[in-house]
Amino acid sequence: MNLILKEFREKNGWTQEELAEKVGVSKGTINRWEQRKSNPSKLATEKLIELGINIGNLESNEEDFRLGNEREFNYNGQKYFVKPQPYVLNAPSDQNYFHDLLITIQEQMNTSIPWDVYKKRLSMIEYVEPGTKTSQSILEKRKPDAKSWNSNYGTHGWHRYIGRFPPHLVRAILNYLNAGPNDIILDPFAGSGTTLVECRLLGIPAKGIEISPLSALITRTKSKFPEIRQVEILNIISELEIFYQTEWSIFINNRSFEEITYENIIEREGNIIEPFVNYERWFSKEALLGVSIYIQFIQTKTGYIQDLLLVALSSKMRSIGNVDVDVVRAEYSKKPRENVDVFKIVKSQLAKMAKDISESYKTHELTITNNDKIQVIEGDILQTNLPKGSISHIITSPPYGVESISYLRTHLLSFRVLESFLSADPYTFGDNVIGSEYLPKEEPDISEFKVSSLSETFNDFFKVIKEKETAEKHKIRILMMMKFFEDMNTVSLKFHEWLKENGKVAFVIGNKKIGDTIIPTDQIIKEIFESNGFIFESSIGHKLKTNNSNSQVPWQDKIIKDEFIMLFTRGTNL
Ligand SMILES: C[S@@+](CC[C@H](N)C(=O)[O-])C[C@H]1O[C@@H](n2cnc3c(N)ncnc32)[C@H](O)[C@@H]1O
Repeated sequence: MNLILKEFREKNGWTQEELAEKVGVSKGTINRWEQRKSNPSKLATEKLIELGINIGNLESNEEDFRLGNEREFNYNGQKYFVKPQPYVLNAPSDQNYFHDLLITIQEQMNTSIPWDVYKKRLSMIEYVEPGTKTSQSILEKRKPDAKSWNSNYGTHGWHRYIGRFPPHLVRAILNYLNAGPNDIILDPFAGSGTTLVECRLLGIPAKGIEISPLSALITRTKSKFPEIRQVEILNIISELEIFYQTEWSIFINNRSFEEITYENIIEREGNIIEPFVNYERWFSKEALLGVSIYIQFIQTKTGYIQDLLLVALSSKMRSIGNVDVDVVRAEYSKKPRENVDVFKIVKSQLAKMAKDISESYKTHELTITNNDKIQVIEGDILQTNLPKGSISHIITSPPYGVESISYLRTHLLSFRVLESFLSADPYTFGDNVIGSEYLPKEEPDISEFKVSSLSETFNDFFKVIKEKETAEKHKIRILMMMKFFEDMNTVSLKFHEWLKENGKVAFVIGNKKIGDTIIPTDQIIKEIFESNGFIFESSIGHKLKTNNSNSQVPWQDKIIKDEFIMLFTRGTNL
């Protein structure tokens, strides 16, 4: 961005002063941007775009420059050359901009981490002079024509999860925080565990809190893998193959699937799947039998291997069941899948997982830590108590994009099939799920919310929206959002209690909409945090699309406008 800025300014024949005047900042600010000492705010960036700067979608030369050439990187006052990863080719302009920001965040650290380690843990960097590859770039397997970032390196790609962090973002923030082995990082909305995986790889002790037992399982498995040899998992696959084929032929007994009913499969000796509503529509007979035998096999295993087998199945459930993959809340698709071979599907997933574990150890040998340094707490943040002042920093994103309940229902089929392991039903989760649809029967007045005394923006915004003609139509959504902010108040008080003095919070949050009206989520969050003893540092805006979530996320544009990484520092005691 900064080099692009200089080039853009010179192309237009403007001096720094002239550009400064046009953007409405000082000459010194332009100089700092060009020197990469600071970054333009969101507003200033918009101004630059208005002036005609082409931040992304860079044609020919500029693109070559960004992707092919080195850029200067400033580390503790020393200059090095780094080469950015080429994952932004053809990416949307805001992604290019964000890519640049990620590199810059990592330059702004105040670090004691030795350069040898630091250069390996840089994110969005392919290599550092004199040619050292970063751990991540080795794992990412360079794909020069990739349309978007690869967010699936290490164990990150084990499960597609809505609203997953790009791991590069977490890494950049960890670098910015100067986090190391003497810290404890918390992600209290752990989701599928991106923060915890990054911490594990970089040798930083971490804790996660996650309410959904399925997500907690995924997080645990991805971040607490033992140093298991690839061959041990391959042996388990061979054992599974024999078990599977034996059970399959005993049951089929030379019959065709036309002769077999769904009831026969459920009544099969060894089956533990309970029939559930519409189960015949969710699975073909072959798929149901395959899943049933696979689960029978899982029961013979314990500990980490059992978790690994469960996650392998859950991650492939959308290819096994008749699921419409692009909807947020799982729906069975009208067109059943044919020829589903469960063994083949899980076999390749397990083999990939085995490889990912061993590669993670190899590529991060300088930093990877013991799995006991990572702790996953399955539970509700609102009911969790951690020791006062025990956490160094928090990196998290609450469920603001879709209602939390959708996180559970997207994986409905996993919950149904793995019921005996998860003991939870996504349709009977209580109101402890943040952003849930379980709302008070009586519509409360704005003043009944604690946030109303903390955030003026909250009051003003909801007062106006409640008086709009469309208020009745959006009644539930309005109430949900008010309850969401009320919960965020409780959450920020907990953060204050758990954090050490000067601990930082990186809070990733987006501006949702009610109808066409954008909710000033970032501003309300800022006011809540400030009232609860936090100092607002900065907000990094982006509108990021990576390949890390459900493919099309059709709801995304409808309900989220922008996303922000909001940085706060915990002040002294309240
Ligand atoms: C935006 S997602 C986090 C995704 C995560 N950053 C990742 O990379 O996978 C938010 C998560 O918060 C969880 N959640 C919702 N209510 C919660 C609560 N009361 N306590 C703890 N976790 C909760 C949801 O189940 C969901 O997994």
